[in-house]
Amino acid sequence: MSQARIAIIGGTGLTELEGLRLSEEKKYPTPWGEPSAPLLFGQFGRSRIVFLARHGNPHTKPPHQVNYRANLWALREAGVEQVLAVNAVGGISAETGPARLIVPDQLIDYTYGRGHTFFEGDALEHVTHVDLTEPYDREVRRGLVDAALSRGIPVKDGGVYGCTQGPRLETAAEIRRLERDGCDLVGMTGMPEAALAAELQLRYGCLALSVNWAAGKTEGIITMAEIGAAIESGMGDVRSTISAYLEA
Ligand code: HPA
Repeated sequence: MSQARIAIIGGTGLTELEGLRLSEEKKYPTPWGEPSAPLLFGQFGRSRIVFLARHGNPHTKPPHQVNYRANLWALREAGVEQVLAVNAVGGISAETGPARLIVPDQLIDYTYGRGHTFFEGDALEHVTHVDLTEPYDREVRRGLVDAALSRGIPVKDGGVYGCTQGPRLETAAEIRRLERDGCDLVGMTGMPEAALAAELQLRYGCLALSVNWAAGKTEGIITMAEIGAAIESGMGDVRSTISAYLEA
């Protein structure tokens, strides 16, 4: 039985969901192509969930080559109504330093050239302009914040996620620009995922883990070693927050 109403899309550092008791692994071809990986159905704590590794497993798809449309379409086809997206990000404003959790409430899209809508093609019967005033579902956000706090995990409630194209990191001037735009965190995978979820009427929330201070926020350069260390120290909090969320 492959029904699960809640999906977790794991990003960098969460290619596999430790603690998931797998019941079924299923490939889901879609009209938009193949999802990043087979959908993994199983039990996490007391909840039935489906897990999808955004970058594939092993982690081989860079942010600009993730097939976001296929990923979201497959989840919807699988009966999912709610998506918890886990994203590694760089911190820009206060309380977003390495290993911190953030549940953003807003989003600015700086990406380009990605398959970003289901409303395209020659055979459209109508054009829909989906509302994205609040890109993240309020209740999902509240649930994530409460879940972290219930486990004693500090979490920043709200923040603007600036989504850049990648896969390179930003220049210091780009980060200053994002900061002037009001961004609190920067990542490469928040869009078009959030907009596609809205087009499919999926309730979507983001649990972001800061894995570095963004470019120019510290004296040195950003190293993969530093990112790896923050993932190592913060991913336990991500798992714990998700399991508290699912138990609530
Ligand atoms: N910039 C963009 N994306 C990121 C970063 C960053 O500094 N860290 C993790 N994902």
